[in-house]
Amino acid sequence: MIKRGNWNSRIGFILAASGSAVGLGNIWRFPYTAGKNGGAAFLVIYLAAILALALPVLLAEAALGRATGKNPVGAFKAIAPRGLWKSVGYLGVTAGFMILSYYAVIAGWTLGYFFKAVSGEFNRLTAAGHDAATMSRHGFASFTSSPVLQIILLAVFLGLTIYVTSRGVSGGIERWSKMLMPLLLGLLLLLMVRALTLKGAGAGVAFYLKPDFSLITPSVVIAAMGQAFFSLSLGIGTMITYGSYVKKNENLPASTGWIALCDTLIAVTAGFIIFPAVFSQGMDPAEGPGLVFNILPVIFAKIPMGQVFGAFFFLLLAIAALTTTVSLLEVPVAYFIDERGWPRRRAAWIAGGICLVFGIPAALSQGSVGFLTRLPLVNTDFLSFWDLIWGNLVLSIGALLIAVFVGWIWKSGNALLEITRGSGRFRPAFLWVIAIRYLAPVLILVILLSKILS
Ligand code: TRP
Repeated sequence: MIKRGNWNSRIGFILAASGSAVGLGNIWRFPYTAGKNGGAAFLVIYLAAILALALPVLLAEAALGRATGKNPVGAFKAIAPRGLWKSVGYLGVTAGFMILSYYAVIAGWTLGYFFKAVSGEFNRLTAAGHDAATMSRHGFASFTSSPVLQIILLAVFLGLTIYVTSRGVSGGIERWSKMLMPLLLGLLLLLMVRALTLKGAGAGVAFYLKPDFSLITPSVVIAAMGQAFFSLSLGIGTMITYGSYVKKNENLPASTGWIALCDTLIAVTAGFIIFPAVFSQGMDPAEGPGLVFNILPVIFAKIPMGQVFGAFFFLLLAIAALTTTVSLLEVPVAYFIDERGWPRRRAAWIAGGICLVFGIPAALSQGSVGFLTRLPLVNTDFLSFWDLIWGNLVLSIGALLIAVFVGWIWKSGNALLEITRGSGRFRPAFLWVIAIRYLAPVLILVILLSKILS
């Protein structure tokens, strides 16, 4: 039998799992989704969803992974060998491919923006004497509508992901995460100070912190719940897979608590950068996926040594995205290794290659190809549509099924034995059982149905 990898250090799991959780979801997806869904009202529901739904599911996935020591398909098979449950694992593996395929397109943008920053392009935004925000938007639109560049960036990013993943769990993934998180948070805090001191920033703070609850609709609730699962990498078995590399003496409740805290802190901070800046420039917070890439260059144009900070920021963001894409690729890779007996390298190259194929329509959907930029029937671009299907709906359904599986099939009592191994006690055990057996299944179902019925 092949020996499975393990995290090296005691906090290896915290590092790697936060590396998976913290990524473009926090800095790109969270602000633009909040902006589209009412700002402060969205933030309130998002935080509630993290606490009541995502955190319990995170602990459930990690425990299931550690108890079985398997990829998502293997984990379901180990506990329910017969029946349909293992198809939840297959759904997760498929979603891993699909999410990675468009996520790597956005990750490619961070690379592209790193080079833009290095070249001094952002400095010219203010020097030209034009409206910096308008100039920045033009720059972004012409960048994303260049088909060759978009595909090259996608391929480069997937290549990096394949390279790191093929080197294995502790060698590749763990090391990257260590330095990165504190650096990224430090730079974010700096940008936050700049954004908050821009003229007219107050309106952005109000948008972000003063909830108007009349804006809450089923779509807003679905978006917030989906974002909570997405941000913590839940619903497709990423955390089952990462949990399978956790040592038995590690304290799971404490680790998962830190991961959720870290992830939420970074997302909330990103909001404190984007909204003040967006409002100070008279931009529309609801403009969609381009939001962050439109506004960040304007901020860098307005700080001393913006070229250096800008380059450094996009480099850090690219590395944060890399620790995330690696975790997405790891789901199918772990499946091919465990269940099909493939060597890791081959699994990484083939899985990554499939993602490239599926990533191409997403890469061409931001202005390069008209049909993909505005899909008929759904009236949105391919990337946003794919993100809605896989990064929101499939994820939420996956989280629902995982909660039911852990709470009722594996049974919460067995899960609690695994959860308390290595920590001895877990005071909120009762709350966790309520959340995983009742709250999560019922709430997720009601929220999904409310959209269909409305
Ligand atoms: N959590 C990551 C982010 O916020 C994205 C991600 C990684 C993910 N693995 C996942 C999303 C698994 C859903 C499922 O950037």
